[in-house]
Amino acid sequence: MDMATSSVATMVSVAGLSKHFGTHQVLSDVHLSVAAGERVVVCGPSGSGKSTLARCISGLEGYGSGTVTVNGVVVSPRMRHAELVRANIGMVFQQFNLFPHLTVLQNCTLAQRWVRRRSKDEARQTALEYLGKVRLADKASAYPAQLSGGQQQRVAIARALCLNPSVMLFDEATSALDPEMVKEVLETMILLARDGMTMICITHEMGFARAVADKVVFMDDGRVVQAAPPGEFFGGSADPRIRRFLSKVF
Ligand SMILES: Nc1ncnc2c1ncn2[C@@H]1O[C@H](COP(=O)(O)OP(=O)(O)OP(=O)(O)O)[C@@H](O)[C@H]1O
Ligand SMILES: [Mg+2]
Repeated sequence: MDMATSSVATMVSVAGLSKHFGTHQVLSDVHLSVAAGERVVVCGPSGSGKSTLARCISGLEGYGSGTVTVNGVVVSPRMRHAELVRANIGMVFQQFNLFPHLTVLQNCTLAQRWVRRRSKDEARQTALEYLGKVRLADKASAYPAQLSGGQQQRVAIARALCLNPSVMLFDEATSALDPEMVKEVLETMILLARDGMTMICITHEMGFARAVADKVVFMDDGRVVQAAPPGEFFGGSADPRIRRFLSKVF
């Protein structure tokens, strides 16, 4: 294919996004563009606005000015059919947020039934397919408390995938896990990336960023300081905020 004439669809577009809590400006004129199939890693110090950005993209949080579009649809918490639009963005958080009183299978079928209006059989089949992908099909009838942290997080990933999202958004998905479980969750995320999923990953796992990111975005104080391919980002940035950050995470 002639690369000069091929155009890749923009999956997520954040333009001029600003947000404040009271007098505290948490996002200032943030721009971010994510193409279909692109993997973006977002990093930066605590309080720099990463989670707030993620919540604005997923329609969980309102914003003062700017626009967020996902797959061509403008996202805001007040839009019509908000839950349908939100379902196009699979979110995985630090805390797995599985329903403790539901089995793994039920956790994976609930939203499919309500949001996607799938039949019981279809929801079940889809759930088993994605549980298979995260290698947990044998745990379908277990309860979350019977699983390890890493397994619970893989269920949370499968649950999000069941809604067939256009984008997967991970907010420190491995931060609450013991080191030996970090690896299995990162491996699941790497498999997803290899499958061509569009991903935005907020993480301090710089090895992961190096391995799968097409673009690394560094935020500080509500602003995007740098957005660059990993080679360039890790190759020795001139910005002292980035150097300070990298010296802490490595
Ligand atoms: N609901 C809220 N009300 C008031 N301030 C908030 C609220 N949510 C976040 N903030 C503030 O906004 C800023 C950005 O927070 P955010 O959670 O987006 O940072 P972060 O980059 O995700 O940090 P961390 O790495 O610690 O997760 C912080 O100063 C935080 O205190
Ligand atoms: Mg955060």
